[in-house]
Amino acid sequence: MLPTIAREADVVVMIDQRKLPVQEVYVRCRTAPEVARAIKTMVIRGAPAIGVAAAMGIAIGMRASKATGTQKFAGEFFRICDLMAATRPTAVNLFWAIERMKHSFGAGAEAGESVDQLKDRLDREAEAIHDEDVASCRAMGAYGAAVVPADARILTHCNAGALATAGYGTALGVIRGAVEAGKRVAVFADETRPFLQGARLTAWELVRDGIDTTVITDNMAGALMRQGQVNFVVVGADRIAANGDTANKIGTYTVAVLAREHNIPFYVAAPLSTIDLHTPDGTHIPIEERSAKEVTHVGPARLTPEGARVWNPAFDVTPHGLIAGIITERGILRPPYTESLKQAFEPLVAGIRV
Ligand code: MRU
Repeated sequence: MLPTIAREADVVVMIDQRKLPVQEVYVRCRTAPEVARAIKTMVIRGAPAIGVAAAMGIAIGMRASKATGTQKFAGEFFRICDLMAATRPTAVNLFWAIERMKHSFGAGAEAGESVDQLKDRLDREAEAIHDEDVASCRAMGAYGAAVVPADARILTHCNAGALATAGYGTALGVIRGAVEAGKRVAVFADETRPFLQGARLTAWELVRDGIDTTVITDNMAGALMRQGQVNFVVVGADRIAANGDTANKIGTYTVAVLAREHNIPFYVAAPLSTIDLHTPDGTHIPIEERSAKEVTHVGPARLTPEGARVWNPAFDVTPHGLIAGIITERGILRPPYTESLKQAFEPLVAGIRV
């Protein structure tokens, strides 16, 4: 499996996604601020991967603490949580992972655990967040494979693969699941301007797995669909509101509209950690705006004239009405999403919802 992120003693190691596919180099983060910077600068990106990185960053940050009393230790802990929370605003997995770390910390503190015990507990929680993400992706892959056509020509946008998660991927997990289930699969990867996650990362992952891959620029998707060359669309998500409205990489909305026009099923694949029941609908999802330089330049080369303004939202929102189903680790959720999303969180006893 692809080594997106791993913990080596007190270092968090990440493959540098800014350099792929040309160079396969690893960044070693030794402090919490280094992890926060790696998230902000997109060394690591993708909603679930960002959550895992933040949890590991908190764990190594607290491991390095010199505090001997829990009060001072707690102060440092909350400062590091705030640092992680300030990195990227849209992917709710980041805030979900920080909340999980806080919850674990709170339980330990309440039980009167020592600083050393709290450090161990934070390590274990970060590891669990990592391992559960891989398991969720595998489950999504198995559920999603069932709705992929036997002879599939799949369009995907951005990178919702192993690189965007702790491993295996969400949308690419569904694609991998379909391949493992014996389906014939060809994938069209949208280039995904401006950061080129599709051209660089999705294509890299799929080619490594030996999956038939064609890269298209974003503006080719409509013509491809009109020619009848796409029969399934699957994308990831950064935040799914309580009514099913879904924030994902800029350009996803355009793909969803095109899919509706051409009667192609449009699916979102995401773990429950991407569902935000506290956000009622897409209008309330904070959308990150990134540096103009991502648009004005490709590498060191300038594309646009000085003086032209730039709009660079990193995400858009696809209205729930365009989404055929949301593939999660608990099965495929269907409209009305206001009901099915809520139900997905109900506890299971022996596999039955209670
Ligand atoms: O800006 P990025 O590269 O972090 O955006 C990533 C996406 O939009 C992904 O599709 C999303 O996070 C899902 S990843 C499983």
